[in-house]
This record gives sequence, structure tokens and C-alpha cells, in this order.
Amino acid sequence: MQENKKNFIKLVNEKISNKNLKYSILTMGCQLNENDSEKMAGMLEKMGYSEISDYKNADLVIFNTCCVRENAEERLFGKIGEIKKIKESRNVILAIGGCMMQEDGMLQKIKKSYPFVNVIFGTHTMQNLPENIYKAIIENEKVKDVIDIDGEIYEGLPIKRNDKFKASVTIMYGCNNFCTYCIVPYVRGRERSREPEKILEEVKALAKDGYKEVTLLGQNVNSYIGNNKIKNFAELLNEVCKIDGIERIRFISPHPKDFTDDVIEAIANNEKICKIIHLPLQSGNSKVLKEMNRKYTKEQYLELVDKMKKRITNVVFSTDIIVGFPGETDEEFEDTLDVARKVNFEQIFMFIYSVREGTVAAKMEQVSEDKKHERFEKLKDLYDSRVDENNEKYLNTVQKLLIEGKSKNNNEMFEGRTDTNKVVIFRPNSENKIGDIVCVKITETHKWYLKGEIVK
Ligand code: 5AD
Ligand code: SF4
Repeated sequence: MQENKKNFIKLVNEKISNKNLKYSILTMGCQLNENDSEKMAGMLEKMGYSEISDYKNADLVIFNTCCVRENAEERLFGKIGEIKKIKESRNVILAIGGCMMQEDGMLQKIKKSYPFVNVIFGTHTMQNLPENIYKAIIENEKVKDVIDIDGEIYEGLPIKRNDKFKASVTIMYGCNNFCTYCIVPYVRGRERSREPEKILEEVKALAKDGYKEVTLLGQNVNSYIGNNKIKNFAELLNEVCKIDGIERIRFISPHPKDFTDDVIEAIANNEKICKIIHLPLQSGNSKVLKEMNRKYTKEQYLELVDKMKKRITNVVFSTDIIVGFPGETDEEFEDTLDVARKVNFEQIFMFIYSVREGTVAAKMEQVSEDKKHERFEKLKDLYDSRVDENNEKYLNTVQKLLIEGKSKNNNEMFEGRTDTNKVVIFRPNSENKIGDIVCVKITETHKWYLKGEIVK
């Protein structure tokens, strides 16, 4: 972190350190957003704030926004209204950051309709948070710190992680793909990859701190570009696998069009890489995929899945699917169901298409709301009908679990996750602790969790 940034941390700290001030961050978006929030929290703690979970009781509130889908806006306005009420009775600093602030229309609306917001910052200026908070609390300034050129990569920001055994590590920022429905390339800018050495340093430090699982994050992880020594995503994966102490490695999200054979080899050859691959499908119809600018066809997607199923033992898939993309017909949607049946996804994140102003798809002929909901229900029904059958395949198998904590419903039981992300409940023995990786034999299946018995 640069000296001048550290300086503002110190300056704020001098002013507030004995005041017992509390901060709260509400993260509204994806795991990248979450990882940004962890860095904001790291900076705030160094400034002398301590965390409180209910933002209604905090002295400094940050809303870390997302704009991938439409309903997020209404939710944000509601939250700002709540803070306005609190501000009438006591002093609260409100800072709003994240993707939504990179949209010009939203930025203007916040400035005009909610003039009491103290700090507005975008995705490229998060590292200025200490300076912006300083200006807001000491100089009583209304700060707007949003730039629309791609931000530099800031290394070494302090970080306060949400979890003790699982951590996310951002490996690249931005996206160059311009899928026609998606706002991300407009708000997160072009792709920039972190230096591989910096990534490995971060993962090694995590291992030293006792972390067992890392998720490598990026909008499009398999277009990661390294340097002469560690050239690409496959090589990065291989290097991360060599780090002692890290036992599980995940990554999100890859793009099917960039899923090269060397990445498949890396997954097949490294036991540490979890055998659930998140492979966003979006649509199963080649014409819709073309209109989405996804650059693969239904057949190419299925071929990729088949290739991976052949090469990687016990691989399963999760995916993102959008229903009701502009112009999508009932027959075209049938292809999405067809692919879902064929791949038999372990998990489907289902989204109803939502118009994002400024994207190409916003100007296309829209599908009616009724149709969108009808298709969503169909996809959900298909998925639900497969859950029991999918769970059955775990019965009597021995699964490695990372113990995440006590079961929420039964204090005597522990809860962990398989590498395919299934929740398993089991009765621990006296040696088992949270954060351990243990072997459990699956004895019962339930719709949303499995039950097991410890074998080692
Ligand atoms: N409408 C609905 N879903 C969207 N996604 C991205 N943009 C939109 C949109 N305009 C979904 C995609 C992506 C996930 C993160 O969000 O499925 O993979
Ligand atoms: Fe959006 Fe497509 Fe980039 Fe993913 S790959 S962030 S869906 S533009």
C-alpha cells in the first residue's frame, strides 16, 4: 500500500481511536464484491473502527453495491432511506461504493436525490477509502470519487477476512467479453491480471495463517495472463497446488470459450482442485448464445463437458442460466432444458433476464414477464426433480469434508462441505475441530443436505 494512503489511515486513527466507533458493510453483490468488502473492512479496522453486524447501529455504513440485475436498485434506495432516518437523530457517515456507482445514471440519481450521502466511490478507487473517509469526517466534505478509466491494481491493501479456513483471492479484474446482456464490462473495465508472484505470496500467507481452501476469483479466470515464468491460468493453478497447507482450490468463473486443454489437465492432475467446475451456460440454444455474444454453440458446450467428464474422474458441474433473454422462444428455451438434463448440473444459479441500460440486449425485443417466470419455474422444476437422484450417488461413498462449524439445527453435530459443495452433517469425535478436513461415509440423503459418519 502506498505511503500517502497509509497516511490517511493514520490521520483518521488519531482522530477516532478512543471513540469506540463502529462500522458495518453491506455487501450486495458477487464474490468479487465480497472480496472488495473484506479489503474495505481491513482498511477501516486499521483506521480504528470496529465491526458491528447490524448497520442500523453503526457510525459508518458502507453499501457495496452490485448492478448485474435490476432489482438491486430498489433495494439500495430502500436502504439509503433507512440511513436517512437514522441520520436525523444521530451522526452516521454513509458511503456508497461498488459497481452501481460506475453507472453514470445511478451516480447522478444518488447525487441529486440523496444529497446526504457522505462518500460515493467506484470500483477503481476503493483504495482511496481512508482519504475519502478523512475528508468526510474531518473536513465535512461530500466526496465523489469515481473514475471511468480502468483502475490500477493495488497490492497490499489490508484485509479482514470473513472466514478462518476458506478465503477468496482475486486474480484478475474486469472483463473484455461484452456478453450482450451484461453490464460488468462497462462498470469493471478491461481485463487486468495480477502478477502471479503476488497471488502466490497471498496464498502462501493464507496457508501460514491456517487457511485450507482458496477460491481464485475473476470475471473470466481462464483469460488470466501471467508473465514469462507463470504464463497463464493453467500454470497458475499448478503453482497454487504446490503450496503446502492449502488443501482445496476452487475458481470462479471460467468462460467456456476459453477452457483450454491445459486447464483440464491441471484439474485432472491435481487432487487439490475441487471436482465441481462452475461453467456458466447462460443458454442452451445456439442462436440465443450467438445473440448473447457468448462465442460457443450448444454442441461446443456439450463437447467441452463430455471432454471433461472423460478426463476428470468424478467431475460435476454447476452453472449460471438466464431465462427470458430478448427474443428467446419456447423452442429455444427447450434447448436450455435439454442441456441441463444432459449435463445434470449439481447446482444451477438461475436468473430471470433483466434489462441493463447501455447494453446491446436492452434494445432488443423483450420477452414478456409472464413468459420469463414460466420458464424460470420450468427450469426450477427440472432441477428440483433431479436433486434426490443426484444425492443418491453419494450414498455409501466416503467424502472428504472441510468442517465449517456446528450444525445450525443440532448443537451436537458438525457441518462440513464436500469438494462438490454439498453440505454434510455428522456427529464429530473428540478430536474433530472446525477447519479440519475429515473423511465421512455418507449414510443418509436429504434434499438440501447429506448425513454421514466419521471414518477417519
Ligand atoms: N440479467 C439476468 N442475469 C444476468 N447475469 C448477468 N447479467 C444479467 C442480466 N442482465 C447473470 C449471468 C452471470 C451471473 C453472474 O449473472 O448468468 O453469469
Ligand atoms: Fe458479463 Fe460475459 Fe464478462 Fe461474465 S463474461 S462478466 S457474463 S460480459
